[in-house]
Amino acid sequence: MHAITIPEPGGPDALVWAEVPDPEPASGEVVVAVRATAINRADLLQRQGHYPPPPGAPAYPGLECSGVVSATGPGVTGWQVGDEVCALLAGGGYAERVAVPAGQLLPVPAGVDVVDAAALPEVACTVWSNVVQLAGLREGETLLVHGGGSGIGTFAIQLGAALGATVLATARAAKHDRLRELGAGHLIDYTEQDFVAEVHRVTDGRGADVVLDIMGASYLGRNVTALATGGRLVVIGMQGGRRGELDLGALLAKRGTIAATALRSRPTAQKAEIVRGVRDEVWPLVEAGRVRPVVDRRLPITQAAEAHRMVGANEHVGKVLLTVS
Ligand SMILES: NC(=O)c1ccc[n+]([C@@H]2O[C@H](COP(=O)([O-])OP(=O)(O)OC[C@H]3O[C@@H](n4cnc5c(N)ncnc54)[C@H](OP(=O)(O)O)[C@@H]3O)[C@@H](O)[C@H]2O)c1
Repeated sequence: MHAITIPEPGGPDALVWAEVPDPEPASGEVVVAVRATAINRADLLQRQGHYPPPPGAPAYPGLECSGVVSATGPGVTGWQVGDEVCALLAGGGYAERVAVPAGQLLPVPAGVDVVDAAALPEVACTVWSNVVQLAGLREGETLLVHGGGSGIGTFAIQLGAALGATVLATARAAKHDRLRELGAGHLIDYTEQDFVAEVHRVTDGRGADVVLDIMGASYLGRNVTALATGGRLVVIGMQGGRRGELDLGALLAKRGTIAATALRSRPTAQKAEIVRGVRDEVWPLVEAGRVRPVVDRRLPITQAAEAHRMVGANEHVGKVLLTVS
C-alpha cells in the first residue's frame, strides 16, 4: 500500500507519499481501507519531529480516518468486512490502509457522508471526554472555548450548545460569522479584545463554568481569572507554551479545578471506553443533525504538504480532510 511517510522531519515538504508494507490485523484489530483522514495540529508537530507516535502505533501520521473494514483479526466481534466506519487512531491514518483496535471504531453516523465522517473521531472523543466526562459541563452553564475556529473548537461549540450551555469562543474576527452559525453565543477577537474582560462582561461578572483551553502557559493565569466560582479549566493544548505561572490563591478563592489531558497516549482500554461514551451520547446528536462535521475543504492525500501549509497558517475553520482514492 501507500502511506505518507516522513523520511526526515521538517516543513510540509517532509511529507512523502511512498510504498510501504501492508498492515496485518493483530488479535482484536481490524484493517480499515481508508477513504479519508483529517489533519490535526499534532500531525504538524509529528512532521517536525516533536511528537513521536506512542510505542506500537504506526509510524505514519493520522489520528483518525473513515473508510470500510477490509479485514478482521482474531477475536473481533461486532464488525464485518464491508462495514462503513470511522476510527480513532494512535497514528497511521495518512495511508491507504490502517490496522486499528476494534474498540476504537465507530459506525459512520446516519446522514453523514463517509468522507466527512473522518472529521469526527478525534474531535468528538477529545471534546466529549474533557468537556463532558471530566469537566462535567451541565445545561445552563457557560463554556468558554479557546480557538473556536479549530477542529476542536468547532466541535466544542456545537456540543456545548447542544447540551444547553451558553458558549463563548475566542477566534480571529474573520471566523466569527461561521462560529455564530455553529451555536456560539458570543465571540471574542482575542487579537483585539481582552478575553477575561469580555467573559466577565457577558456573564455579569460570574465567569465561565468550564474553559476548554488550547493555549496552555500563555493563557493560564487569565483562564483562572475568567473562571466562575467552582469553575473547571481543562488544558488540552500548549500552543502558547508549557511552563506557566499561577496565583494559586486565585484558584483557591474560586474553588476552581485545573486538569490537563492527552488522548493519543491513553491506553487502548481507556480509548475504547471514551469511544463507547461518544457512540452512546454524541452520535445521537450527530444523527439528529444537532452536531455536524465541519469540513473546511477536502484535498487528495498526495497534496498533504499543501494541506499542512494551510492548517499551519490557521486559514481553515473546522477540519481539513485528505481523501484517498
Ligand atoms: N490533548 C488532547 O488530547 C488533544 C487532542 C486534539 C487536539 N488537541 C489540541 O487542541 C488544539 C486544537 O487542535 P486542532 O487540530 O483542532 O487545531 P487547528 O484546527 O489547527 O486550530 C488551531 C487554532 O488555534 C487558534 N489560535 C491560535 N492562537 C490563538 C490564541 N492566542 N487564542 C485563541 N486561539 C488561537 C487558531 O485560531 P485563529 O485563526 O482564530 O487564530 C486555530 O483555529 C491544538 O493545540 C491541539 O494540539 C489536544
